[in-house]
Amino acid sequence: MENFTFYSPTYFAFGKNMESEAGKLAKRFGATKILIHYGGGSVVRSGLLDRVKKALDSEGLDYVELGGVQPNPRSGLVYQGIDLCKKEKVDFVLAVGGGSVIDSSKAIAAGVCYDGDFWDFYSGKYIEQALPIGTILTISAAGSEGSPDSVITNEDGMYKRGATGDAIRPKFSILNPELTQTLPAYQTACGITDIMAHLYERYLTNSKEVEVTDRLIEALLLTMVHEGPRVIEDPNNYEARANIMWAGMMAHNNAVGVGRSQDWNSHNIEHELSAKYDCAHGAGLAVTLPAVFTYVMNHDVMRFAKVATRVWGCQMDFDHPEVTAKAGIEALRNFFISIGMPKNFEELGAKKEDIPELVSVLCDGDGRPGYIEGFVKLDKTDCTKIYELMAN
Ligand code: NZQ
Ligand code: ZN
Repeated sequence: MENFTFYSPTYFAFGKNMESEAGKLAKRFGATKILIHYGGGSVVRSGLLDRVKKALDSEGLDYVELGGVQPNPRSGLVYQGIDLCKKEKVDFVLAVGGGSVIDSSKAIAAGVCYDGDFWDFYSGKYIEQALPIGTILTISAAGSEGSPDSVITNEDGMYKRGATGDAIRPKFSILNPELTQTLPAYQTACGITDIMAHLYERYLTNSKEVEVTDRLIEALLLTMVHEGPRVIEDPNNYEARANIMWAGMMAHNNAVGVGRSQDWNSHNIEHELSAKYDCAHGAGLAVTLPAVFTYVMNHDVMRFAKVATRVWGCQMDFDHPEVTAKAGIEALRNFFISIGMPKNFEELGAKKEDIPELVSVLCDGDGRPGYIEGFVKLDKTDCTKIYELMAN
């Protein structure tokens, strides 16, 4: 196990009706004037936004609103949000929605405390300072409710990049599984896929002797394999939604990723797809993961065989571990298909002829060195072959 530091001070309020605590929690973490940030309207239609405003009113808190965050959140609205916060002297940002809303809120919160262009953070500058953030989560997926990360799409070129810093870890996150019951099945499945991707990206490590985090990741993957189909079959299954919601947080606040190197090549490869085709991040990952894993499997075939046996129940073939490894990747792919995810470029809406452009932005865009590196180093030829696997 490698040395690590881990600091995860988010206060979680989990369970039914917890959104009624929003005012008390915002006050507790120092809010006086709040920006309520939300998406394309689901929180308006569900009545959640009204309930949140009531909770703030009852604590005498002042607020302004900014809706309109799109999935794969855009830089333009972030600039608007920064201007609004400065003008209105906002001192707290409350995200009501999914990962896109939370990430946009994080970008605004960091941008308000910074004299330069907020995009500097998405070009590699660490976020040292930000307004405090609270979240009320409406979809189990990105894990942004407990993470120090944010992903934004730059509209000037339509490419997607991440930023990080402990300053943007939410001060509190309200997790009420009931709020996710209004999700369309497709979005639920995208979320399940993303959570599993966050676990796999951590599982694929070059660090040795990391049994505790290996076992925790396997437990969370097993939970997803059990609960995923239950919630697709019955969207009102509160207990399944609750288990998925907490697994989604655990998958990405890095409690199960400490002390080990991690991958993230699949996320980088996918981000080019959701940036270019505006597909859901989870749907892009369903197509990306099996292709990447097939391509890199031989780098550490035993690791793939291990997850195949421990999570997917495959029989270990000691003479031919690559057979077991492949069976595990196939099981993952079939699982994604079974919950309604796309299986190739065509179903995702991506185009084979765009591969050279995708590879160029992925490997060279925004100052990248001509390759990406995680579990393995992937140059442009490797990335081309991986995208081709998805296209065929
Ligand atoms: O905009 P509204 O109307 O709210 O609709 C949203 C949106 O269309 C809808 N939705 C959310 N909750 C709902 C609901 N519809 C009905 N009922 C509800 N309860 O779902 C759609 C997708 O929402 P979005 O926020 O985009 O989903 P998700 O949470 O998957 O976030 C995806 C974004 O997170 C980034 C992704 O790249 C993508 O941009 N990621 C962020 C990470 C982080 N900050 O740590 C890590 C992840 O790996 C990921 O990259
Ligand atoms: Zn993700």
